[in-house]
Amino acid sequence: EVCKGVNGLEKIVLREVRGSSAELYFYGGHVTSWKNDHGEELLFLSSKAIFKPPKAIRGGIPICFPQFGSLGPLEQHGFARNRFWSIDNDPPPFPTNSSNKAFVDLILKPSEEDMKVWPHRYEFRLRVTLGPGGDLMLTSRIRNTNTDGKPFTFTFAYHTYFSVSDVSEVRVEGLETLDYLDNLRDKERFTEQGDAITFESEFDKIYLSTPTKIAILDHEKKRTFVLRKDGLPDAVVWNPWDKKAKAMADFGDDEYKHMLCVEAAAWAIGSSKGSPRGIAQADLVHPCTGSLAASG
Ligand code: BG6
Repeated sequence: EVCKGVNGLEKIVLREVRGSSAELYFYGGHVTSWKNDHGEELLFLSSKAIFKPPKAIRGGIPICFPQFGSLGPLEQHGFARNRFWSIDNDPPPFPTNSSNKAFVDLILKPSEEDMKVWPHRYEFRLRVTLGPGGDLMLTSRIRNTNTDGKPFTFTFAYHTYFSVSDVSEVRVEGLETLDYLDNLRDKERFTEQGDAITFESEFDKIYLSTPTKIAILDHEKKRTFVLRKDGLPDAVVWNPWDKKAKAMADFGDDEYKHMLCVEAAAWAIGSSKGSPRGIAQADLVHPCTGSLAASG
């Protein structure tokens, strides 16, 4: 179902028989809402989010492509999150089974303007699926359509903003003992200790080569989110905390307490600064999946 959203921008609503739902905008191919079958919102969306190009929507699930972060030639997190995507009327067969599920297929291709800043041709197909249990799955397939067959590399993230009751009561499990690059310390490489991750100040880390399953435990709400990922080796965890929150025009001063970003990503390996993983060879279809389930 396509309808008008904020500022007249069009959005797609997916509904599942038991009552769960999801919403996504053509602008950014951006999921802005995911509700369980009790109608409870599971994603954070800022009350100050700006639904106006070229600003990316603050909250939900921005898609960072073809560059995650600011390391590289492009604007922070690339341009996929502030382009208008289209319905993909002719999606090739998908590796994942979507029968009996509510889903939509979107596609993004570069414009001539995009080619000036990132000179590669590609087809980026995104399928957003809402499963019968209310789980949400995003599958991205990025195909290199460069006519000369020249390979390109990119970095990527599903920049998911989870809604939590109080971030200082939240634990993240699955990242213990892993290596990470600390964005707050010039991307220096450290190793995480053995305990679940908790939050008491600004947090911005890229965990390298993580397990495919990460759990976010919201103690107060008695809710657990389980993030599963495939084809996305890394994971980014971010909370701006009070000072950065105040500095962001599209984010409420106290909203940091009620969100946590845990992002399935493909970022970097190697030295402490890392170099982007090369993941798109000529004419290769690269599926990366992130699925979210909530219980409690
Ligand atoms: C996170 C990054 O993923 O996104 C942070 O690790 C960044 O460094 C944050 O501040 C938000 O980015 P943006 O561009 O949406 O404000």
